[in-house]
Amino acid sequence: MEAPLRIIFVCLGNICRSPLAEGVFKAQAAKAGLADRFEVASAGTSGYHVGELPDPGSIQVARKHGIDITDQRSQRLTRGDLERYDLIIAMDRSNRRNIIRMLPGEDVEPLRGRLWLMRNFEFTDDGSGHDEDVPDPWGGGLRGFDRVHEILERSCANLLSWARREHDLG
Ligand code: 4NP
Repeated sequence: MEAPLRIIFVCLGNICRSPLAEGVFKAQAAKAGLADRFEVASAGTSGYHVGELPDPGSIQVARKHGIDITDQRSQRLTRGDLERYDLIIAMDRSNRRNIIRMLPGEDVEPLRGRLWLMRNFEFTDDGSGHDEDVPDPWGGGLRGFDRVHEILERSCANLLSWARREHDLG
C-alpha cells in the first residue's frame, strides 16, 4: 500500500480552528474507512499556546459532534513541516501569509499545489472556491465555534473527496 497522504491544518494559535479541523477531517476519513490512508496533524504559525490543550470552545463543539480532540496539544509549525506535508491547509489569508514568510526569500514555488486555504474547498471539491477566512472564534462565545464547525464540516468533506480522487485513495 502506498504511503499515507500527509495533511497539516494551520491556524495562528493551534488551539481553536486547526485542532477542530484535524478532528473533523480524521472523523470523516475514519467514517469513510480511510483512516489509514491519511496522516493528519495541525499546527500554529505562532508559539503563543505551545503545549496547551485545544480551547474549551473547540473541545466542546467537537464533543457535541462525537469527536474527542483532547489528545491534541498546540505545536508551532516548522520549516520541516512545510517540506514534509503533502497538503498544508491554512485557516485564513493571514496565516497563509505567515506560512509563505517562513520560506527562504518568501518563494512560494516549493509550495505550489500543496498550500491551500480551508475555504477553497468549502463549496467545491477541487479547491477552486473562494479565498475567504475561517473566522477566528478565540475569546468569543460558543456560537462562533459552532459557526467554525459548520464551515469545517463542509470544507473537510470536499477536501476528503478531492484528496481521494487526486491521490487515488479509493
Ligand atoms: P486559532 O485561534 O488560531 O484558531 O487557534 C487563536 C488562538 C489564540 C490567539 C489567536 C487566535 N492568540 O492571539 O493567542
